Amino acid sequence: MRDATLVTVAGRDPSRQQGVVNPAVYRASTILFPTVEAMEQARPGKGIYYGRYGTPTTMALQDAVARLEGGHASVVVGSGKTAITSMLLAVLRSGDHLLMTDSVYAPTRVFCDGTLARLGIEVTYYDPGIGGGIAELIRPETRLVFTESPGSLTFEVQDIPAIVESAHARGCLVAMDNTWASPLYFKPFAHGVDISVQAGTKYIGGHSDLMMGFVTCTEELHERVRKGVHEVATAAAPDDCYLALRGLRTLAVRLERHQASGLRLAEWLKARSEVLEVRHPALPGDPGHTLWKRDFLGSSGLFGFVVKPYAKQAVAAMLDGLELFGMGWSWGGYESLLIPTRPETCRTATPWHVNGLPMRMHVGLEDPDDLIADLEAGFARLNAAA
Ligand SMILES: Cc1ncc(COP(=O)(O)O)c(C=O)c1O
Repeated sequence: MRDATLVTVAGRDPSRQQGVVNPAVYRASTILFPTVEAMEQARPGKGIYYGRYGTPTTMALQDAVARLEGGHASVVVGSGKTAITSMLLAVLRSGDHLLMTDSVYAPTRVFCDGTLARLGIEVTYYDPGIGGGIAELIRPETRLVFTESPGSLTFEVQDIPAIVESAHARGCLVAMDNTWASPLYFKPFAHGVDISVQAGTKYIGGHSDLMMGFVTCTEELHERVRKGVHEVATAAAPDDCYLALRGLRTLAVRLERHQASGLRLAEWLKARSEVLEVRHPALPGDPGHTLWKRDFLGSSGLFGFVVKPYAKQAVAAMLDGLELFGMGWSWGGYESLLIPTRPETCRTATPWHVNGLPMRMHVGLEDPDDLIADLEAGFARLNAAA
C-alpha cells in the first residue's frame, strides 16, 4: 500500500465501532479489569492498562505512525521535545557517551548540556557533514549517535546510511529526529536507524493546534525504549491523539502542497538581489542536494535563506508588515511563517559563519502567488528603510 493510501486507512477499523469512520476519543484514567486474574496478567504496553499508557485512541495513532515510519512500534508523548528527552533517558545511563549533531534543534542541545551532563552522560557535538567519519569519534562508552536531517535551522543533510554503518560496526545505536521530512518523505528504518523521534506537533498535527511527539523503534529495542519512555514521559491527551489522527489523513496531500510551494518560494528568493543564499536541500546546487536526492522521497515547506546585512530596523519594517507570514516558533501548520534566526548561538563543533541575516521560512498552504506578493511588498519596505 502506498503512503497516500496508508495515511487514510492506518489506525482505523470502522467494523469495530458500528461503522463510524474515525476512531472514538476514549478519555480515561482508570481502566477496569473484569477479574483478579485479568488484572494480574495485564501489563503496560500490552493492551489498555491505565490512562497514562494510552487509550484505544492513542493505540490507533501509534499504530498508524509506526506503519508509516516502517518501525516496529511507536510511543506517543506530549511533545516533540518529550519524545527526544524521554528517548535519551531511556537509552543512556551515567558514564555513557553521546554523539550529537551540531545542527540539532536548540532545545535538544539545552537538555544535553543540562540534564544529561548532570547525570554524568558526556556529549560530544559533531559536524553534521561527518558521514562515515563518525567512526573516529566513537569510544568504547559511546552508546548513541543522534542525527537530525536536515537540521531544522541550518538545513544540512546528513549521510544517515554512512553514519549507521560506522556506528553499528562499533556497537552504537543511531537515533534520528525525523520531523522535517515526516514519515512520508524519509524512511528512517529503511536507512538503518534504530530509533526515530519526531514532533507530531508539526506536519502530522498540521493545524498548529496541538503538541505531540513520537518515539518509534525497532522490534529489538522496543520494550526497553517503551519502558524507559513511559517511566518519564507525559502522556498525550486522547483529544490531541484524535486531532493528530485527523491531521494524518490529509498529510500526503498537504505535504505535496508544502513541497511544491516551498520550492517555488525558495527559487523565487534565490533570484532576489536582497538574498545572499538559500538553504533548501531540494534545490539543485544546495550543499545537501545530492544526499537529499539519494535518500529522501520529498521535501517539506521549511527552509532557510540569508539576506544581506541590512540594518535591524529595515528588517523589522519588512517582517512586521507581512500580512500572510506570521512570526512564531514551530512550523508544519497550514499557515506560512517567517522568522529571523541566530544559528551562530547554537553551534559549538562547527562555528556558524554569519555572512548576512539568516531567516527561516515555513511555506504553508496559501496560494504561493499571494505569498510572493506579500514578500514583494516586504522587500520593498526593507529597501525603503535600508
Ligand atoms: C526538529 C524539531 N524537533 C523537535 C521539536 C520539538 O517539538 P515540540 O515543539 O513538539 O516539543 C521541534 C520544534 O520546533 C523541531 O523543530
